Amino acid sequence: MSTLKKALQRKIEEHRPRTTRLLKEHADVKVGEVTIAQAIGGARGVRCLVTDTSYLDPMEGIRFRGKTIPEVFEALPKVPGAEYPYVEGFWHFILTGDVPTVEQAKEVVEDFKARSQVPKYVFDVIRAMPSDTHPMTMFSAAILSMQRESHFVKAYREGLSKMDFWEPTYEDCCHLLAKLPTIGAYIYRLKFKNGDIIAPDPELDFGGNFAHMMGIERPYDDVARMYFILHSDHESGNVSAHTVHLVGSALSDCYYALSAGINGLAGPLHGLANENVLRWTQDFIAKLGDKDPTEDVIREALWTTLNSGQVIPGYGHAVLRKTDPRYTSQREFCLKNLPDYPLFKVINMIYKVAPDVLMEHGKAKNPWPNVDAHSGVIQWFYGVTEYSFYTVLFGIGRAIGTLANLVWDRALGYPIERPKSLTTAMLEEIASKK
Ligand SMILES: CC(C)(COP(=O)(O)OP(=O)(O)OC[C@H]1O[C@@H](n2cnc3c(N)ncnc32)[C@H](O)[C@@H]1OP(=O)(O)O)[C@@H](O)C(=O)NCCC(=O)NCCS
Repeated sequence: MSTLKKALQRKIEEHRPRTTRLLKEHADVKVGEVTIAQAIGGARGVRCLVTDTSYLDPMEGIRFRGKTIPEVFEALPKVPGAEYPYVEGFWHFILTGDVPTVEQAKEVVEDFKARSQVPKYVFDVIRAMPSDTHPMTMFSAAILSMQRESHFVKAYREGLSKMDFWEPTYEDCCHLLAKLPTIGAYIYRLKFKNGDIIAPDPELDFGGNFAHMMGIERPYDDVARMYFILHSDHESGNVSAHTVHLVGSALSDCYYALSAGINGLAGPLHGLANENVLRWTQDFIAKLGDKDPTEDVIREALWTTLNSGQVIPGYGHAVLRKTDPRYTSQREFCLKNLPDYPLFKVINMIYKVAPDVLMEHGKAKNPWPNVDAHSGVIQWFYGVTEYSFYTVLFGIGRAIGTLANLVWDRALGYPIERPKSLTTAMLEEIASKK
């Protein structure tokens, strides 16, 4: 058994009594109440999910296993010559809560390499789709097509004990995760580089290999590592994470669950916002013609978007109430590596103007930028200008957190999810009694 799997097994055995005790001794303790606004309004703020991989504080932003983004980047072992950590080391960290040693991170690198070969039929599935198919549709279909590979399904059929569900799930999740960079880069090269596919390099790590297969020089390998880690996890109530958990709660395997989560990520209010930010910005720049962007013209363009009933992509959040630290992290990368890049300057100007515009507009509870407001700038700078691909990058990252959660869902035996619904008439009756 690998070091990571052993460490995970120990963590699971240590953790199980905590869940059992909470259920046995404190099952009736209330963690909150649900209002009519929450029942109608997308369960916003209803505290009814449990996840230990990350926690999202509205003011501070995300912490992965108790660490802020800068702390994670600082603590995890780095790829030699690179500024960002091994994605494989992050997988160890998010699964166990322990910062791996360099050797432990490298062990996961080797483990992933051994699992990374994508079956040929997956490429056939992608190629069979019409050429104007959205990259997210290709990505989701590719993941789903591998469902036949599931170890969990076979083990379950053979009569696996519930206590052991996590083990084949862990195997499935590692197998799936290790293949995602190859699948993502394949979709990119097929759609946007005339099908000129670059074979993986067996010497490289997750992020390095992705950059290599995309056909982009350093430091894009670091960009990839940073992106995948930044986008990995945002506790479990967001659409993609919740979907993976929900679908997985029916004991559907991780291929079914992740493919479903990716479909949720493809919505414009969720992951697709990164595509829409660049679409919006490029439309805006095109309309400017020869003129330089100013704060006044940006303000005008933002109001035009709002007045036409559309949202400002990349701004607002269901939980956050300040600038997303994932935005800040990318901004810091730009300040260091591309401070004078014109698109970065435009994004900065939007950052100066948009919060005030949104506050004056008076609807959004959070006028500050989220992760998606910045994602496209760095990609564009390194030559990935095909913005319909951006959400696939998000998806590769999001797989890390959601799959880690799925392993823990199985380890702790979380049941099938089934909240109770009421009718509108019932809500009216409850309201009339108040
Ligand atoms: C992220 C988002 C879906 C959160 O939704 P939410 O929790 O319902 O947000 P709020 O409670 O602040 O929404 C209240 C109102 O403000 C509006 N609003 C929120 N963010 C807005 C934005 N960026 N631009 C314009 N209006 C916005 C909502 O559409 C809603 O309007 P309504 O009352 O007419 O339905 C929302 O902020 C949004 O659509 N943002 C733009 C898309 C985006 O960047 N998504 C990526 C998120 S990581």
